[in-house]
Amino acid sequence: MARAGHAGGVSSALPADDDLNDDLPVDPTTGQPADQPADAVGATITPYRDGPLIVRGDFRLVDQDGAEIDPGRRTVALCRCGKSGIKPFCDGTHKRSGFSAPSAPSRPRPAAAIRSASREGGRPA
Ligand code: FES
Repeated sequence: MARAGHAGGVSSALPADDDLNDDLPVDPTTGQPADQPADAVGATITPYRDGPLIVRGDFRLVDQDGAEIDPGRRTVALCRCGKSGIKPFCDGTHKRSGFSAPSAPSRPRPAAAIRSASREGGRPA
């Protein structure tokens, strides 16, 4: 389980007309962002291209002192651009600020390179 948890769609702290969900898959029956598949376990965190981290599934969201932050919904958008007025939640400001980031890492983290190299019996690049 991730340390970020709850029931619902994107946080109720977000504006009703938020545009942060424009790129999210939508459940046609509810019009809300689609949750993860029913057979999935735990949480899924998806960095959206040029946008927030979308957290879906069974998670708890806590501050650094361990106090619960009520996400209000089962799927939340967490700001990764640093410009949101409602951190840790995304408020859509990333679009106006021109935030740019890939969805997947452009290169492996150093620890991943070390693990990969040790599996192959070599040194990290
Ligand atoms: S990622 Fe959306 S406001 Fe920061």
